[in-house]
Amino acid sequence: MDSPELVRCIETATLAPSLHNSQPWRFRLTGEEIEVYADHDRQLDVLDPDGRELLVSVGAAVFTLRLALRRAGRIPQLAVLPDPGRPDLVAVIRPGSAAQPSAAVLELADAIERRHTNRQPFLPKVVPADAIEELRAAAGHEGAALTIAGAASRTVIAGLGREAERRLRARDGYRAEMGRWTRPVAHRRDGVPSAAYGPWDALERLPMRDFGLVHAPRQRRSEVFEKWPTIAVLTTGADGPADWIRAGQALQRVLLVATRRHLATTPISQPVEIPGIREVLTDRRAGRFAQMVIRLGYGPPAPATPRRPIAEVLSDRAASHRAGNGGTP
Ligand SMILES: Cc1cc2nc3c(=O)[nH]c(=O)nc-3n(C[C@H](O)[C@H](O)[C@H](O)COP(=O)(O)O)c2cc1C
Repeated sequence: MDSPELVRCIETATLAPSLHNSQPWRFRLTGEEIEVYADHDRQLDVLDPDGRELLVSVGAAVFTLRLALRRAGRIPQLAVLPDPGRPDLVAVIRPGSAAQPSAAVLELADAIERRHTNRQPFLPKVVPADAIEELRAAAGHEGAALTIAGAASRTVIAGLGREAERRLRARDGYRAEMGRWTRPVAHRRDGVPSAAYGPWDALERLPMRDFGLVHAPRQRRSEVFEKWPTIAVLTTGADGPADWIRAGQALQRVLLVATRRHLATTPISQPVEIPGIREVLTDRRAGRFAQMVIRLGYGPPAPATPRRPIAEVLSDRAASHRAGNGGTP
């Protein structure tokens, strides 16, 4: 595979979702090998002190890169956390052998550009059982599990989310951190722009993250959200860095399958940002550690959010050697 084609795949990987659109990844191209690094300068210290969501975000980029390589006709070879001495090196991906992409691969890859986090009210329309099964299988393929909440647990999860939101707002530095990632700066290529905030939930039933908390545009609407949301919990069998990366890959696979099925999605992470609340969603004995809550449904189109230019996230070996940096790019 030539270098421009690999660079295009890396550019596609940056379309992955990330906490507050922090895009906490860096890539390095060494010949045909792509190294994916965690960028801890972009970690949200208040929301994500352990860097769990940072690795979930990088994991989402890793899955997107794998899929982009499949679309480009290669079967990627993946090594996760290949060097214990370099924990920031999240993955090394080689393009692997050639293979004509199947129709299923092409359809899923097509969803990469169309997937956007949707914070609008969804229609009162049921998600069909076959779509739910596909979403569950998507998580399973990546070594995670997706559980759709029944009526009772849906209410409990929404309540836990609201309680988490309340406690987060009481945390020192929460507003300042939110302000940094939502500050409306011209030509900004990261963070959450106001067009993506969504309206306020008039009845305050759903734990929608209020991105307008600090820099709210004036005259923000408040709307009634769906009465019976479809809520899913993504879990992994253990809870270390490799599991967080796995969760990120599974998250993106689930979101892309949903997009392919014309479903709108909202990752909801407040309930997993407060350890005591995350514990309620976790079943340690059964090996189900909650990594993310996902809202699914049918909604109006959601806007794309910006991404940093490829030159900011990609370095090649020659360039980093010239800069005297043989380690992380
Ligand atoms: C680990 C993680 C946590 C997230 N948590 C939330 C959340 O709690 N609420 C929300 O509205 N979006 C959440 N998101 C979505 C991001 O805000 C979104 O991916 C980012 O702003 C980029 O926008 P896009 O998904 O439309 O490309 C999360 C995404 C990730 C990967």
